[in-house]
Amino acid sequence: MTADTPKEPWARHKKLEKNVALLGVLAFAAVTVGGIVEIAPLFWIDNTIEKVDGVRPYTPLEQAGRNIYVREGCYLCHSQMIRPFRDETERYGHYSLAAESMYDHPFQWGSKRTGPDLARVGKKYSDEWHVQHLINPRAVVPESVMPTYAFLKDRDLDAGDMSASLSTLALEGVPYTKTDIAKANEDLKAQADPTADTTDLVKRYPKAQVRDFDGNPARLTEMDALVAYLQVLGTMVDVDSAAAQEELAKQEKGR
Ligand code: HEC
Repeated sequence: MTADTPKEPWARHKKLEKNVALLGVLAFAAVTVGGIVEIAPLFWIDNTIEKVDGVRPYTPLEQAGRNIYVREGCYLCHSQMIRPFRDETERYGHYSLAAESMYDHPFQWGSKRTGPDLARVGKKYSDEWHVQHLINPRAVVPESVMPTYAFLKDRDLDAGDMSASLSTLALEGVPYTKTDIAKANEDLKAQADPTADTTDLVKRYPKAQVRDFDGNPARLTEMDALVAYLQVLGTMVDVDSAAAQEELAKQEKGR
């Protein structure tokens, strides 16, 4: 190095790189400050997920159907999370929003797709289609490799004490009200009973679909519950409405 070469701009940094103790102390300080900036806000905000209009807890019947979905391992072949890629949104619809699965315990996002994503399968097919498909997938989709679940139609729904289930979910942060919990067992039956008065149920669970789902109004079966669950998937948020778009734009900005 001659006298007139300019001083190396990284000379001071080099000092740091060569002094392991100094580097250690400063790296620790940097990570501490960064860590506090990331972690501290979590102590003051209730929820990291922005609320989106329409998202509500599952009705007892939907929740019971969800339990059957988990019990039967449907998640082994089906994901419930549409990623924001064009090939996914063109096939399955609007990408999934965090708020849409905020009351899912446990999540059913998954990554294994032997079958299609089910995040927005609600209202895509009729109840009859689902029942036929679950009884024998090959009857409606000849090339299907999905197993048959015909027994669901013959099994009475034994969901256990749904009040207890709902209060457990409430402990995990699902906003079930006292009335929801008290009426859970009643609501479970009423949603699939065409003769029941469900005005109060629909008030507490907006847009709940109330009808017999399995084609046999005389019986409340596991098929009723599972189809009720499939028919609600992805239908709570009207993703194409102006309000939802506005909220989405806000979220994008805040990111
Ligand atoms: C071994 C893998 C496998 C399992 C387990 C499985 N499925 Fe499927 N599923 C498929 C495949 C493959 C398809 C696509 C062909 C068809 O429609 O049958 C499919 C299609 C579907 C569809 C139609 C989706 C659409 O958009 O067309 C629904 C609904 C569905 N499955 C529900 C379920 C439910 C509920 C369960 C659990 C009770 C389940 N599946 C278990 C493989 C599976």
